Amino acid sequence: MDTPIGGTTAVARAHSNIALVKYWGKRDEVRNIPAVGSISITLEALSTTTHVSFTPDASEGRDQDEFWLNGQLTLAPRVNRVLDLVRERAGFTGRATVTSTNDFPTGAGLASSASGFAALALAASSAAGLDLRPRELSILARNGSGSAARSIFGGYVEMHTGHLDDGSDAFAEPVLDGAAWPLSVVVAITDHEAKTVSSTHGMAGSRASSPFYPAWVDTGEQDLAEMRSAITDRDFPKLGELAEHSCLKLHALMLTSRPPLIYWNAGTVAAMHTVRALRDSGVAVYFTIDAGPQVKALCAPQDVAVVAEALAATPGVRETRTSALGRGAYLMAS
Ligand code: PMV
Repeated sequence: MDTPIGGTTAVARAHSNIALVKYWGKRDEVRNIPAVGSISITLEALSTTTHVSFTPDASEGRDQDEFWLNGQLTLAPRVNRVLDLVRERAGFTGRATVTSTNDFPTGAGLASSASGFAALALAASSAAGLDLRPRELSILARNGSGSAARSIFGGYVEMHTGHLDDGSDAFAEPVLDGAAWPLSVVVAITDHEAKTVSSTHGMAGSRASSPFYPAWVDTGEQDLAEMRSAITDRDFPKLGELAEHSCLKLHALMLTSRPPLIYWNAGTVAAMHTVRALRDSGVAVYFTIDAGPQVKALCAPQDVAVVAEALAATPGVRETRTSALGRGAYLMAS
């Protein structure tokens, strides 16, 4: 890999997140502005570390950016978009070398785009000499991936759709610090392969073809209001029931898209039943699933061991990971 000489450098880390109230559908595809708001929790155990180095200006180095993901040179137009926005704002033409590493499976429904673009937004803006406020970082990260706007923050986070055409009011902000209400997540990994239909592609299809899409958008605000109050009241059963409802409503939307989006496998369904059986036996645990086959079980920290054991024993579950709530994106020594 070429190392730019004289370029400025920064390293940032951001954690993945999972939505309790889901985002699916965009009101602006270029700027990645969501059509519905969302609420997520940031996950301590899943992170991306990203190193960005800029050449001083385009004429003194390459005329292309380079993006290395988990050791492989990768084409990712959204990475270039975020870098272009940073260059525009900083007023220079330098090209970037971006090196990004995930400590968990990439592109498999574990929100690697969320942690990835949040880390990129912070590292790239910092390497370019910009000192952006968290809200501006959230908007920048959103241009890479909608869910990344939330990973700028830790704990419980809400993403707003905003109303403006330029997306300047479509950012995430913290709802509650993770330490104020600790929660745990057990991730049941049922497939380590990357998913076949990207979120961007999938949501465009759902918007264009699912008869449930208007109802999805219409009921979003109500779900957000109820989730906000569940968090404010520290009402875990209410949070869990709503999270399952939002997840199942999202998957109903996916299943009724044309062509249909079926992200689940047999292990996914088995893990959902494990969670329900645990609940019947008195353990407060609820599931949520994104655009992939992994099941994320939400529970109190004291129930992690029993939930992880039950999921690990579920047919089709290959690996479990547990996570506490994580912090927002941060810079590291470069
Ligand atoms: O940010 P994207 O484009 O990867 O989309 C994320 C979509 C879901 O993970 C399914 C839901 C969400 O709110 O994170």
